[in-house]
Amino acid sequence: MLNFAEMACFFLCLKISLNNSHTNKVVWLLARILRGIVIFSDSSAKKDVTVFDTTLRDGEQTPGIAFTFEQKLQIARQLSDIGVHAIEAGFPASSKAEKETVSAIKKLDLETTICGLARSVKADVGACLDCDVDMVHVFIPTSDIQRENTINKSREEVLAITSEIIGYIREHTDKCMFSAMDATRTDWDYLIEVFRTAADAGATIINVPDTVGVISPSGMKTLIGRIHRDVNCPIDVHCHNDFGLAVANTIAAVEAGASQVQVTVNGLGERAGNADLAQTTMILEAIYRINTGIKKERLVETSRLVSRFSGIAIPPTQPIVGENVFSHESGIHSHGVMKNAATFEPGIMTPEMVGHRRRLTLGKHVGRHAVNQMLSEVHIVPGETQLDAIVEKVKAIANKGKRVTDADLYEIAQTVMEIELSHKMLDLMDIAIMTGNHMIPTASVKAMVNGKEHIFSAVGNGPVDAALKAIFGIVPARVQLKEFNIEAIAGGSDAMCHVTIAVEDEQGKIYDASGSGDDIVLSSVEALVNAINLTSRK
Ligand code: KIV
Ligand code: ZN
Repeated sequence: MLNFAEMACFFLCLKISLNNSHTNKVVWLLARILRGIVIFSDSSAKKDVTVFDTTLRDGEQTPGIAFTFEQKLQIARQLSDIGVHAIEAGFPASSKAEKETVSAIKKLDLETTICGLARSVKADVGACLDCDVDMVHVFIPTSDIQRENTINKSREEVLAITSEIIGYIREHTDKCMFSAMDATRTDWDYLIEVFRTAADAGATIINVPDTVGVISPSGMKTLIGRIHRDVNCPIDVHCHNDFGLAVANTIAAVEAGASQVQVTVNGLGERAGNADLAQTTMILEAIYRINTGIKKERLVETSRLVSRFSGIAIPPTQPIVGENVFSHESGIHSHGVMKNAATFEPGIMTPEMVGHRRRLTLGKHVGRHAVNQMLSEVHIVPGETQLDAIVEKVKAIANKGKRVTDADLYEIAQTVMEIELSHKMLDLMDIAIMTGNHMIPTASVKAMVNGKEHIFSAVGNGPVDAALKAIFGIVPARVQLKEFNIEAIAGGSDAMCHVTIAVEDEQGKIYDASGSGDDIVLSSVEALVNAINLTSRK
């Protein structure tokens, strides 16, 4: 479809060429100039959208989540470091501790706008102002169902409160975001009236929350289009994921004119959560070519940090950040990806772009090419029949439902090819771990490292942490822990556990290994020692 500028260009060129067929050069020149204007004003050209993160407020409202004070500060620092435009640090009026946290986050003096949430009452606004936030986010329910059942105010009263509270906020601070809670279920004519009132009273941005996640992307596009046309104020959008549409609705809002998006890390939030930071950012950046200012290469790291703090694991199939996003198992896919990664990946999003890694995984669908490639990376070169036998064994293990790690593959190759692989860097001799309710978990290890005996001790957050730190302390090479997964095999306190670990060597190469047994600490130690030994097997 031609836009207005393109049509104008077309008709003007046509008119000139019809009027004077001998002035081709002039026509060409004018067409070029107009084309420049067209490109400049094309609605698909790059524009910016700012990202407002509410992990510390709506995200913390996820049932079962309570970040510690330190974790909140660390999340705030991380969000600021990766370029988030504004952080909703909390709801200061909700408790003394919350107020102290918001104040402390503000005192970090981060390169981002610190926002506090407030109901439309002066006491809540006062609590935000006491924290010295840069922006107050004030909300009031506007849908009939919420208005009548939560605050019991008439439509007129809500308009009056909106005007008064925003006026009050603006007397004390420069930035005020106004949310019409349950906006999408509010009568839309009335909603426009509410937003106009807010804008007239001095709201610097209006937020359109889909509080119970019920709108569709086309509905959102129509609604935001109307608000954009009828209200003179920048628009922000806050979508819940009850039907799995939070990200799609957020993107639809941007298509219709919203200039700010509210997100949470890993899509945390009330009930089914909010729009996910990584997904929203990557859709805007990679598909829509819209600049968000987010350091995309730190998205995976951010997701893992919040997963660790929240105790909510990232599903392997989670878009952008999940373990499987750039993993390839089937023979056809792995073979294609080895030739050109874009064969079976989006291409417009690579693992490097988001701080992820591409992996050829070993499973029941694995092909010869992938196995050969993985072995050749550690200089193991099997013959044709040996390769067939190795692939066969890998598939047999995978068919039993077990994960096959790099370490398992090398063991299989070693057996099939009847070879002794090069020396082990680390040979664990003894490990002792002390833990209890009144002591800091401490671990001591004795090991042969490149043939020499070494002893090292370390403390940690828990016995596993202490044990892994003690082992890292004894290793001369710079090896870093990248992933740590623990699975209980069958329930019960006597369950077996299976630990998989990925470590990164100095060259940035990643190695996976596992350990299992009935002791979590010893299984973790076994996995780490196996992984470290892989790094010396080059
Ligand atoms: O979902 C919602 O409506 C909210 C508001 C406070 C913006 O979280
Ligand atoms: Zn919400």
